[in-house]
Amino acid sequence: MEDNNVRPASLERIETIEAANAFIEEQVASVREQVKDGRVLLALSGGVDSSVVAALLIKAIGQNLVCVHVNHGLLRKGESEQVVRVFKHEMNANLIYVDAVDRFLGKLEGVSEPEKKRHIIGEEFIRVFDEEARKLEGISFLAQGTIYPDILESKDGVKAHHNVGGLPEDLKFELVEPVKFLYKDEVRVVGKALGLPDSMVYRQPFPGPGLGVRCLGAITRDRLECVRESDAILREEFAANGLEGKVWQYFTAVPDFKSVGVKDGKRCFEYPVIIRAVNTKDAMTAVVPEIPFSLLTHITDRILKEVKGVNRVVFDLSPKPCATIEWE
Ligand code: XMP
Repeated sequence: MEDNNVRPASLERIETIEAANAFIEEQVASVREQVKDGRVLLALSGGVDSSVVAALLIKAIGQNLVCVHVNHGLLRKGESEQVVRVFKHEMNANLIYVDAVDRFLGKLEGVSEPEKKRHIIGEEFIRVFDEEARKLEGISFLAQGTIYPDILESKDGVKAHHNVGGLPEDLKFELVEPVKFLYKDEVRVVGKALGLPDSMVYRQPFPGPGLGVRCLGAITRDRLECVRESDAILREEFAANGLEGKVWQYFTAVPDFKSVGVKDGKRCFEYPVIIRAVNTKDAMTAVVPEIPFSLLTHITDRILKEVKGVNRVVFDLSPKPCATIEWE
């Protein structure tokens, strides 16, 4: 019997826009054949995989795709806005935007244990998505941005991180997974061919719990803003200095303690910002690349000047092992 979780031998590697266009054409036909006049639901986070699936399905079935974007308040600066702009305004998608910021931050209040935070974020996401799904009528399909490494990892039992578990048993959908045999680099070429912006297609990996695991300890709104604003400055400067795409992952984290400093001649007690930048092949081990010192001091100056409540910036020099990439 054919194993429908094994990449077909006939699927050649997608490295060019021409190959991507041929793949898109095939998938459009196959999705149309699978869903016919049915309606398809998709959780659209704005990450590479779900964005590519959305763009592909918009092409295949237009308004019969219903995208749900949950803003849980833990996305990077401008990300939710970009999802709405690209999909709703530019691609005319049927997009439901759910502002769940207060709800997530409420659930996370006072929770400092990292795995518990991850669990709450994953579980609450399912709950919000489930509530939205139940409000809709006539949906019989669920689209997912599963990619081939997800299938291989779950076969091997390697999958280390669980972001989103399953939907409740009584919500029965047939799955639509148009990129499930593609590797990440192939998904990016398909995204490019579908006309998605580079900032979506070539985005660095971002953990499911988002800034939630970079606002260390119990999340507070003031520190979450410190993380979001400092991360935006770091990304802007890395992009402006040609490091985007050269450094595998880079971000900031803000711990849940303050340190003493001096501002305007007065003692102040404020948060530090940690800069993390790593290179890796598979995220199992990682090294810290050399970043020009002048760039680091420039980023430090900008963060100290522009981010409220911060009086110190440090650069993490630790490789993995023995440090992990994320701080929690
Ligand atoms: P660590 O910190 O374990 O991270 O060295 C390895 C890679 O995994 C990402 N990461 C996560 N991704 N959900 C995710 O989807 C998570 O809970 C999670 N925690 C870490 C991390 O960003 C890095 O790329």
